[in-house]
Amino acid sequence: MSEEELIESAKRARLKAYAPYSEFKVGAALLTSSGKVYTGANVENASYGLTICAERTAVFSAVSSGEKEFASLVVVTDKSPPAKPCGACLQVLTEFSRNCSIVCANLDGEITRHKLGELLPEAFEL
Ligand code: THU
Repeated sequence: MSEEELIESAKRARLKAYAPYSEFKVGAALLTSSGKVYTGANVENASYGLTICAERTAVFSAVSSGEKEFASLVVVTDKSPPAKPCGACLQVLTEFSRNCSIVCANLDGEITRHKLGELLPEAFEL
């Protein structure tokens, strides 16, 4: 699965975002070490704090399907520079794959590439 294909998957997922309050749509595509792809979009709620980010939707979908090793997470927004995952999503991802690549893209074709450990170097550990 190429980076380009993953970005396309995240873009398609973003179209399913439910974001009537912020109007900020996010799509995520998560590539497992075994080569499968799980996608997610942000889902907001009238009780704002119940909103779930696109990245965590994708991680929870993968983990609840039995996948726990991730190679790459792609996040697509309509923001320049491309938005990075929030701290909560980075912490959730760290639980499973500290070396995951993070690719942030937008609708204009801008792309930034990171490593999870670079974006969250001091994750919480029990
Ligand atoms: N959001 C995400 O989906 N991912 C992030 O990493 C940060 C923020 C969503 C939550 C909310 O629906 C909207 O973006 C604005 O904060």
